[in-house]
Amino acid sequence: MKKWFAVIGDPISHSKSPAMHNAWYTEMDVDATYIPIRVEPANLRKAVASLKLLGASGWNVTIPHKEAIIPLLDELDEQAAKMGAVNTVVKMADGKYKGYNTDGAGFVRSLEDAVGTVHRDKPILLIGAGGAARGIAFALLAGGYRNITIANRTVMKAEAICEELGTGQAVSLVEAENKLNQFAIFIQTTPAGMANGTLNLPFSLEKFPQDAIAADIVYNPLMTPFLQAAEEKGATIINGLGMFVHQGAIAYNYWLGHYPNTSNTIIELTAQLK
Ligand code: ATR
Repeated sequence: MKKWFAVIGDPISHSKSPAMHNAWYTEMDVDATYIPIRVEPANLRKAVASLKLLGASGWNVTIPHKEAIIPLLDELDEQAAKMGAVNTVVKMADGKYKGYNTDGAGFVRSLEDAVGTVHRDKPILLIGAGGAARGIAFALLAGGYRNITIANRTVMKAEAICEELGTGQAVSLVEAENKLNQFAIFIQTTPAGMANGTLNLPFSLEKFPQDAIAADIVYNPLMTPFLQAAEEKGATIINGLGMFVHQGAIAYNYWLGHYPNTSNTIIELTAQLK
């Protein structure tokens, strides 16, 4: 029987997930379809009940529903519970719907696609302590990255994540700025990366080290002010597109039991976004 999947969010028309997943079904000869559904926050409960009733094989969840959907699901993966957010729902063999989070793991795959797995002992500076940073922090830890510092404007939020992680250090943006040269991997998760040069970075890169790795979670634009500045300092830069594609590929694997070809997807989407 044909399987069907969806992405729910608000707004949703900009989402690149439907085209990406449908292209994978065609390429991998999977009899399935994937549709975008706009769900306003007030309708989330009814929308989830409808998706279950109509027998969706699974769906992705995007802004603003990643946290709110949790109590509406039948089961929750342990990592997603720790992250406090769900971006993927899977219909299990017994018909129950289980929530997962593939965003953080998508980031780690993207990082390792770009620079391999040899950097797991290196000191990482995670900039920001919102939902995205939290997911990445848990996925880094699960991936064997042990040396994590979280810098945030509101230090308490970084402290809260470290406490939940059971490791890591929380610092202010000023503290981070003053010891930037002690880190090897930088991961920028604040909306400063989103600005088309209009917003300033929340910190100075004066002490940015040589030969660093700099990642941003934003992929539109592909080149953020942070990545631009890091590249000027000689860093290897990683934009957010790989994270987006890999979070989708990991969801696809949960649903269908095999991985799609991600490298072609990254090449095609890069060409579209340039
Ligand atoms: P997301 O879920 O995408 O991570 P979020 O939860 O709203 O988004 O988190 C946004 C992050 O960007 C936070 O770390 C926020 O810092 P605070 O916790 O201090 O609010 C950070 N951020 C947003 N605007 C910022 C700015 N102008 N300067 C510094 N940090 C900023």
